[in-house]
Amino acid sequence: MPTISKKGASMPESPIRKLVPYAEKAYKQGKTVYHLNIGQPDIKTPQIALEAVKIHSLDILAYTRSEGSEGYREKIANYYAKNDIHVKHDDIIVTTGGSEALLFAFGTIMDTDDEVIIPEPFYANYNGFSTASGVKVVPVISKIEDNFALPPIEEFEKLITPKTKAILICNPGNPTGYLYSKEEIKQLAAIVKKHDLFLIADEVYREFAYDGATHYSILQEEGLEDYAIIIDSVSKRYSMCGARIGCLVSKNKTIIQTALKFAQARLSPPTLAQIASEAALETPQSYFDDVIEEYVERRNVLIEELNKIEGVQVANPNGAFYCIAQLPIKNSDAFAQWLLESFDIDGETVMVAPAAGFYSSPGVGLNQIRIAYVLNTDSLKKAVNILKEALKVYKD
Ligand SMILES: Cc1ncc(COP(=O)(O)O)c(C=O)c1O
Repeated sequence: MPTISKKGASMPESPIRKLVPYAEKAYKQGKTVYHLNIGQPDIKTPQIALEAVKIHSLDILAYTRSEGSEGYREKIANYYAKNDIHVKHDDIIVTTGGSEALLFAFGTIMDTDDEVIIPEPFYANYNGFSTASGVKVVPVISKIEDNFALPPIEEFEKLITPKTKAILICNPGNPTGYLYSKEEIKQLAAIVKKHDLFLIADEVYREFAYDGATHYSILQEEGLEDYAIIIDSVSKRYSMCGARIGCLVSKNKTIIQTALKFAQARLSPPTLAQIASEAALETPQSYFDDVIEEYVERRNVLIEELNKIEGVQVANPNGAFYCIAQLPIKNSDAFAQWLLESFDIDGETVMVAPAAGFYSSPGVGLNQIRIAYVLNTDSLKKAVNILKEALKVYKD
């Protein structure tokens, strides 16, 4: 029988998906499962975006340009200008989600065996995209004790080798909820310039900055034009995960010309979803104000309730909608499975994401879970109570 590739064999499984069969078993037993495990917001998509798909006047659902329709890219550039990020429409390539923008970025700047330094814990699929691109992830550990702040710059410098091509950050962070300060971005800017590396910033959670903090983009940093690549997406901003629209943004013309070749190979990003995403750009600020208020309330409830549980340590997130909690257990994979298979309160249980999949260093994060606060506050309270009671009886 022919064999699959080494690359295919080494593709990591999603740390969340592998628990799905256990969740399905729990549903079959009639249990309610509170999903703290996925970043699928329960927030309504702006009506204006949904309407745009209903009222379009297309006769043919044709391809668009590989880099995305010009009208949409012009409007994206306006959106960035409002966020003090000054780019032109031809600095933007529309992609099939931020996921494809990450693949294009990796393909554009890295060859097989090149290295990318990523503060960990990081968005688990960075491992998958790296494997698919034959690239090695070199983690630099950020710690729960420091709220997952940027590790000291010397730690990055120690890891730079002739194979290092880029530093990748997620700001605000999934799974940490950490929002990098302007000062931290400046430190990263200095190091990439000094060592001639690219800086990729996954800014898909840009709007989700709390407690009066403002997001500082790498493209607001002067002098970083040739080094900076932004990964962006409508998925979380407008609760449009199913639209599958994102973009790659860079002022570096060679990056854009090269990424465009990858875009041409897959012909076009989705046409109808670009129409919806273009309309979504008209979403009023009041929508975001309400959404942010809702997430802050959820975060406050979640952190307060988690802090009441003995032995639980939690980093306070000031962006995105995730947090990492450290539990008084040895193995969160086994704990998460046990919650679904063997624990409930009045027929209700929780599904969490074991955090080990958000690290690439073996053996790190085994006692941590990632929680997505994408449920209303009542459900969050019930879910944390289930965790609390579960921890009282769980034995690893
Ligand atoms: C940090 C981060 N980057 C990128 C993505 C990819 O999102 P999409 O492909 O839906 O745009 C996600 C999705 O959860 C994410 O959390």
